[in-house]
Amino acid sequence: MGIVGVDIDHAASIIANGGVVAFPTETVYGLGANALNPNAVAKVFALKERPSFDPLIVHIASAENISLLSSCNDPRVFQLAERFWPGPLTIVVPKSTVVPGIVTSDLDTVGIRMPNHPIALELIKKSGCVIAAPSANKFGRVSPTRAEHVLKQLPEVDYILDGGKTTVGIESTVITLDEEGFIILRHGAITHSHLAQVLKPSGAHKPLKGLASPGLLKSHYSPNKPLYIAGETSKPIDPSMAGYIAFGKKPEGNYKRIEYLSETGDMVEAAAHLFEKIHAFEDSDVEYIVADPVPEVGIGIAIMDRLRKAAYRYK
Ligand code: TXA
Ligand code: MG
Repeated sequence: MGIVGVDIDHAASIIANGGVVAFPTETVYGLGANALNPNAVAKVFALKERPSFDPLIVHIASAENISLLSSCNDPRVFQLAERFWPGPLTIVVPKSTVVPGIVTSDLDTVGIRMPNHPIALELIKKSGCVIAAPSANKFGRVSPTRAEHVLKQLPEVDYILDGGKTTVGIESTVITLDEEGFIILRHGAITHSHLAQVLKPSGAHKPLKGLASPGLLKSHYSPNKPLYIAGETSKPIDPSMAGYIAFGKKPEGNYKRIEYLSETGDMVEAAAHLFEKIHAFEDSDVEYIVADPVPEVGIGIAIMDRLRKAAYRYK
C-alpha cells in the first residue's frame, strides 16, 4: 500500500498510535500528530526540520475542546468560535496544563483552530485526539495545497490523506486578544474587517502591524528557485527563462510561461492559486519566478505577506 490514500480510519489509527499523518484542511495540508503525546509531536518537528521555538496549532473538531486545551473562559473566544469556526482562524489563548510544552514551544499560550474540511474533522473525531499540525512542508518552504506537494517534501511521513486541492490556499489568520480587542499575528483569509464585525481591534487608533509571533520570520515559503516581485526587484530579468505569476492582466515581455492567479482580478481566487502556481513553477524548467504584486487590502495583505517572505532571500 502506498503512503498516499483516502483511508480515514487507517489515518486515524496512526494518529491514535502516536504516528504522523498529513491531512487536508481548507487552508493548506497539515502534518498532524496527537497533540497530547509529546513523542508524537516530536516526530512532527523532526520530519519538518522545524526549530523548537516555533509553536504548533492544535486542531479540534468540537468547540468543547477549547476548555480542554485552555484555562481561559473569555466569552470573546467563544464568540469568535461561534462566528468563524469551522474556518481559517487560529485563536491564541492561555494554555491548560494538559498541553505539552513541545507543542507551544514552552509558551504559556496555545493556538487553537477548528478546520473547515470534512476529512480533517472526521480524522480528528475518529482518532479521538486533538491534533497538533503545522503546514506539511519542510521548514521555511512553500506550504502544500495538494497531497503531491506533501509527498514531494515529506516522503517519510507515515501516511498522506489525499483530499485533493485545498480551497482557501493560504494558511489561517492567527490572532490573539488583549483587554481591548483582537491583534492579528498572521494575516489570512479572515481579514481585519471580518474580525471587526465581531470584536474591536486592539488599539483601534494605532495602525495594526503584525506583532511578533515566534514562527513569523522574514524569510518563509521559499521556492527552490529565486522568486522576485515585479517592480520590487532591481535584478535584471530575462523573460525567456522566467515563469510569471500574473495577478490579472498579461505581463509585458516574452515570458517562458505565464500562470494567472485570477483572470478576473478576484483576490480570494488569487489566494487559492498562489502556492499552487509556485509549486508548479518549482517543478518546471523555468529558472526563476516573477510574481505580480496584488493590492494590499483585505486578503491581499495575506497574499503580499506570503510573496514578500518567499522573495526575501532572493532580494
Ligand atoms: O492554516 C493553518 O494555520 C495551517 C493548517 C494546517 O491548519 N497550519 C499552519 O501551521 O499554518 P504553521 O505551524 O505552519 O503556522 C502556525 C503559526 C506558527 O508559525 C506561529 O507563528 C503561530 O502560528 N502560532 C502558533 N501557536 C502560537 C502561539 N501560542 N503564540 C503565538 N503564535 C503562535
Ligand atoms: Mg507553515
